[in-house]
Amino acid sequence: MNIPDIIIAVDGFSATGKSTFAKMVAAEFGFLYLDSGAMYRGVTLFTMESGMVSEDGTIDEAALRPALADLDLHFAHEDGKTKLYLGGRCIETEIRTLAVSSLVSPVATIPFVRNYVDDRLHAFSEGGRVIMDGRDIGTTVFPDAELKVFMTADPAVRAQRRYDEMVAKGEPADLEAVMKNLAERDYIDSHRETSPLRQPEDAFVMDNTHMTLHEELVWVLGVIQGKFGLLEVPALTH
Ligand code: DC
Repeated sequence: MNIPDIIIAVDGFSATGKSTFAKMVAAEFGFLYLDSGAMYRGVTLFTMESGMVSEDGTIDEAALRPALADLDLHFAHEDGKTKLYLGGRCIETEIRTLAVSSLVSPVATIPFVRNYVDDRLHAFSEGGRVIMDGRDIGTTVFPDAELKVFMTADPAVRAQRRYDEMVAKGEPADLEAVMKNLAERDYIDSHRETSPLRQPEDAFVMDNTHMTLHEELVWVLGVIQGKFGLLEVPALTH
């Protein structure tokens, strides 16, 4: 099946499996995968490492704003994986720690940070055939995306998945701390003033609490076939 040259926007709460889903779809369809949350995490890591966060968690916005003008955050594609780089340094591991997770939502509320990330995402997406995940992709970054998916899942299942992910990576993990972090991020992400997390009106909603990855893939193929009138079914690898 020839998937058209579209932009697929995937939004939803934290740890609903957006990136796993988007990476799988990218691999199956030969699309470029862009993780917008990674960009916010990259800005957060930079802010922390540059001493722009005070002990009480206050972000020095006056210092951060001019620093973004020269901030080189970009993705590199290695061995079929997309990794985030800060200049020449791969920061894929550092941006997933709980320290970064705890600060990323406040950083992502800052309007000039959102502008920086949006500009980068638009530049990376030139040419289409992109699947991008985040909180405001279908509402703000690509309101005209041809396909919008909104993902949701039971909060306890989400926390368990994120916890298992951290354990598998050998990171220190505490289920209660993960649950608390997810609840806090849900609140901040959906209540901030600039581009809050909202379900786009024209999105297809997927609740994957009880779905396997294969079922997610079959689901999205069904949506694409229905929406774009494609009849042929491709061979799936997932
Ligand atoms: O998807 P993630 O957990 O890696 O995202 C990290 C944070 O970045 C999330 O708590 C909110 C923010 N974010 C955002 O505000 N807008 C996006 N499009 C993507 C992420």
